[in-house]
Amino acid sequence: MKNKILITTPIYYVNDKPHWGHAYTTVAADVLTRFFRIQGNEVFFLTGTDEHGAKVAESAEKLGKNPKVLCDDNSEAYKIAWEKLGIEYDYFIRTTDKIHEEKVVEFLKELKDKNAVYEKEYEGLYCVGCEKFLTEKDLVDGKCPDHKTEPKKIAEKNYFFKLTNYLGKIEKLISKDQLLIQPEIAKKEVLGLFKQRLEDFSISRQKEKVRWGIDLPFGENQTVYVWVDALLNYCTGNGTKEFDTYWEKGKVIHVLGKDILKFHAIFWPAMLLAAGKNIPQREFIHGFFTFNGQKMSKTIGNVIDPSEIVDKFGVDATRYLLLSQFPFGQDGDVKKEKFVEKYNSDLANGLGNLVARVLTLANKYGIKDGKSEKEIEKRIKGVKEVYEKDMQDFRLFEALEEIWKLIGFCDKYIEENKPWQITDKKKLETVLSNLLYCISEIADLIAPFLPETSEKIKNQLKTGKSEILFPRLQ
Ligand code: MSP
Repeated sequence: MKNKILITTPIYYVNDKPHWGHAYTTVAADVLTRFFRIQGNEVFFLTGTDEHGAKVAESAEKLGKNPKVLCDDNSEAYKIAWEKLGIEYDYFIRTTDKIHEEKVVEFLKELKDKNAVYEKEYEGLYCVGCEKFLTEKDLVDGKCPDHKTEPKKIAEKNYFFKLTNYLGKIEKLISKDQLLIQPEIAKKEVLGLFKQRLEDFSISRQKEKVRWGIDLPFGENQTVYVWVDALLNYCTGNGTKEFDTYWEKGKVIHVLGKDILKFHAIFWPAMLLAAGKNIPQREFIHGFFTFNGQKMSKTIGNVIDPSEIVDKFGVDATRYLLLSQFPFGQDGDVKKEKFVEKYNSDLANGLGNLVARVLTLANKYGIKDGKSEKEIEKRIKGVKEVYEKDMQDFRLFEALEEIWKLIGFCDKYIEENKPWQITDKKKLETVLSNLLYCISEIADLIAPFLPETSEKIKNQLKTGKSEILFPRLQ
């Protein structure tokens, strides 16, 4: 059935350039978009950059740059990286876009009108790296465990959102999968959060402290809290003057990392409920990469620039290297030195070699596309069923595994049948037809992951001319 779906990535902070972690989320969301499109759905794929707040302002100051210039430079860097990675987004939102800022103001007025905000004196510990308040309990040796910096003590009068009014309802929606949080481990984590104390959160900052933000439409000298501004991108980022064109009729799927789960699974639906809007249907939460056991960090110097990997391995291979490391939803450690090994074994010697071998044999014996056997068709049908189920539930790693099992089967099939030794013409034709059929199916299955390669294989099957897909690397 044809559905209208909105697929989103988080919008990334422009304090820095895109890295491997950002690329992971974005490529995964792109793969889902392509898959759902192939399945006949109408998908709007949204990504973009989060440009306001203290974090961006402080980075700009450190660099001696005007914040807008830093935003322009780095949002451009994101666009360039996504183009290199073959990301086919429909809209790239920047939170400094005038149209977004205006819609944020409208939404906040609505929250105020619906009596969902109030003013309060507040004292708390703020981590600029996280752009959120932390509690004493969150700290390790007095520092934010993620950013290894001491949070700032803040005491000011802010506007607060009545989160606590909506907690019961959201907990129910999540437990009943009406707001589907996947995988199960992430759902458990969110449900655990309701057991702790969740408090109303501040939606504004004093302008003298955070100047780089959208002016709050009520309350003097306050700017909108960067997370409220950012989450609203999912409604404003449609390229029109309307607020949430896709949300009305469509299904909304957010893809994000586990670090920002609370904002997406609790704060965001609460804001939407308060304003009387639809909530997302599904959120898919993935784990984190570490490199050689360590968090990616500039100080350690292990930050991977995805563009650099594309230059070395090519776009499809980079997409493959991103998604084939560990199951989506879990954390995983990678070693950059292992990329070449994985590339050679799975792409050059695996997929690439199989296609070349089959086409060479088919050419040699003059077979284009004959009739494949029932048995092989049955096997493919089985593979497709598992694959589709995996893709529907965002088990991208497992879906890839299923394809590579099929590649392995074809290799074995060639070894066992030794087409070059077959003298019976009919038998030879059947064996090669089976293989050609498998390859054309593989080309379809890889299409969301490796779109260029999929096209190349289909072309090679049409013309019969084999060209190297993945040259072996040293
Ligand atoms: N601007 C906020 C998101 C606002 S969404 C309304 C933000 N930006 S971020 O630039 O810090 O990006 C965070 C996201 O980047 C994570 O949720 C995840 O998708 C991705 N990743 C960042 N580091 C990562 C890893 N080391 N591994 C995997 N993904 C990671 O938070």
